[in-house]
Amino acid sequence: MSPNSLKKLGVGVVAVTCLLAATAASAKDKPSWRDGRQVFKKCEACHSFKPDEHRFGPSLYKVTGRKAAGAPGFPYSAAMKQRGTEGLAWTDKAMDAFFTAPRKFVPKTKMAFPGLKDAKDRRNVIAYVKRMAKRGR
Ligand code: HEC
Repeated sequence: MSPNSLKKLGVGVVAVTCLLAATAASAKDKPSWRDGRQVFKKCEACHSFKPDEHRFGPSLYKVTGRKAAGAPGFPYSAAMKQRGTEGLAWTDKAMDAFFTAPRKFVPKTKMAFPGLKDAKDRRNVIAYVKRMAKRGR
């Protein structure tokens, strides 16, 4: 084998190794709604997924992708209504930002929750919210 093809082989091995490592990492980081159910214990005093069952917080039935302040019959803060009017919708990205620091993402929100500092907890709870929002219970 020429030194050149050896070099190519080396590059190939490195590339494959990186690919495998990346695949393993993404499998491990895949959001788990089951783990999210545990995280949601911090939320369930205020939130249910039953349609129209509002607690301190609005029902999260069908919240995924919907515009902010969209649950019928819940008295949202002026701040949250304003954000909805401006076009904020609950995508994964928006939920991640809101759950990290509710009062930073929506100043003057009524959601009295300090936030979830752990990115993995947030990913998992978002997976759980998405699953449950569809089912409505
Ligand atoms: C102390 C009660 C409380 C806790 C705990 C709480 N929330 Fe909330 N949540 C609220 C209130 C109240 C609102 C409405 C905010 C407003 O109008 O400003 C809200 C709003 C929301 C919204 C936006 C709903 C919409 O229709 O626009 C989502 C999504 C949400 N909460 C998810 C969560 C998740 C997930 C957790 C746990 C990590 C959580 N909340 C913890 C009270 C709470």
